Amino acid sequence: MKILVIEDEPTVHLGLCNTLKSAGHQTGSATNAQDGITLFRSEQYDLVITDLVMPGKGNGMDVLSAVKEYAPRSGVIVITAYGNVKTAVEAMRRGAFDYVTKPFEPDELLIIISKFSLQIKLEHENSLLREEVQEKRHVKNLIGESPAILKLRDTIRAVAGSDSSVLILGDTGTGKELVANAICSLSSRTGKPFVKINCAAVPETLFESELFGYEKGAFTGASTRRKGKLEAAQGGTVLLDEIGDMPLMIQAKLLRVIEERTLERLGGNDPVAIDIRLICATSKNLKEAITDGTFRKDLYYRINVVPVMVPALRERRQDIYLLASFFLELFSARSAKPGLTVAPSAMAALERYNFPGNVRELRHAIEMGVALCPGDIITMQHLPAEIREFSAVDDISTANGGATFLMDKLRRLERDEILLALEETGGKKSLAAEQLGICRRTLWKKMRDLGIPNLLPEEDD
Ligand SMILES: Nc1ncnc2c1ncn2[C@@H]1O[C@H](COP(=O)(O)OP(=O)(O)OP(=O)(O)O)[C@@H](O)[C@H]1O
Ligand SMILES: [Mg+2]
Repeated sequence: MKILVIEDEPTVHLGLCNTLKSAGHQTGSATNAQDGITLFRSEQYDLVITDLVMPGKGNGMDVLSAVKEYAPRSGVIVITAYGNVKTAVEAMRRGAFDYVTKPFEPDELLIIISKFSLQIKLEHENSLLREEVQEKRHVKNLIGESPAILKLRDTIRAVAGSDSSVLILGDTGTGKELVANAICSLSSRTGKPFVKINCAAVPETLFESELFGYEKGAFTGASTRRKGKLEAAQGGTVLLDEIGDMPLMIQAKLLRVIEERTLERLGGNDPVAIDIRLICATSKNLKEAITDGTFRKDLYYRINVVPVMVPALRERRQDIYLLASFFLELFSARSAKPGLTVAPSAMAALERYNFPGNVRELRHAIEMGVALCPGDIITMQHLPAEIREFSAVDDISTANGGATFLMDKLRRLERDEILLALEETGGKKSLAAEQLGICRRTLWKKMRDLGIPNLLPEEDD
């Protein structure tokens, strides 16, 4: 294990280091709190053994807070003077692993260290198990078996294995946030902080302090120092959602953070080293935004190391059935209406619809169907108007889903034949009617009933 010893008394210090080295540990050392903290930040130790009272600025408690802030998984063992158990207890309360009282036997310390190392091992095994479960859960969360989704899952796995910046692109409601969640939980940063910022929801005036934090006194009202969201994600992942809505001034600051891997809090002079993985998402066309001057080109290249495209639902219609079934199960369980089904006609309408709002719209449609359906079959009439109208199937009252299905099929067949005839005759209704063997008036009526648009103005027909 990599252990940092912070102790001012030379004999105790030397004794400690020797004990640790002979037990096979790697050691680092400092003789005051300040140097200790600096060393810890730059080298990252598994365990810190620190004296509580030392000369100079800061004490063992400051070391403890710094360790817990920068690397909460690293352990701290405090050394207290005889009779100072109260402080030791306080240290335990603040997250120290254990304490020893001076003078102590080397063995006493080594036993504590092996307890700590056992805990780390168990935590590690635990997190491996958790990852395994999460991998299954997270990739499963992303419903769909279309080639487009299979490819997306592969991309997610590949991207999760790297630490590069990812830009998730896709229309509204396609599942960009779900993809970001999956990438984060499959990555090595799983279990570390995952901070999401919706750039469209942060007021411009608050953006800077929200993202970068501020020092005490940075502005009126800044009575204490506050960490920004980027710093809160230290060691983990940040999702900048709707990055296309980030103000230009903030874009410039973010670019600096990415390039220099440090940030400055508002009103602060000391740069803070920052270790985050950046995932950005947008439904906007960023290239257009660059041309319009609302998005920085240099930032675009920085965040777009690996682009991940989330396909629109209409480009993977075969997933509609799976997704609808998934949401049906979800909402029927939630509203305690077990055994609900979607009538084949309604399902067919869903599969035909173009879903401008993508998966979110489908989810809402099923939620509405579950809420409105009095019996146990969701039919067309329980679906949102847009879907009913799009499908161009009249509101046939249905006591029986099977009959509706047949009607739908016939209507669709009729619709397809008419569309074909219109296509072949360049949209001329008189010719199309002739070809179909019906009169022009009948054709016109059928077109209206079936929701076929009249592309040619009357006089050209
Ligand atoms: N493949 C999928 N499987 C299951 N649920 C999905 C899938 N894709 C999206 N969803 C669900 O659809 C809804 C919208 O997804 P999400 O919020 O991730 O979309 P988005 O692309 O971030 O949308 P926006 O651009 O509006 O922010 C969520 O409820 C999400 O759980
Ligand atoms: Mg989103």
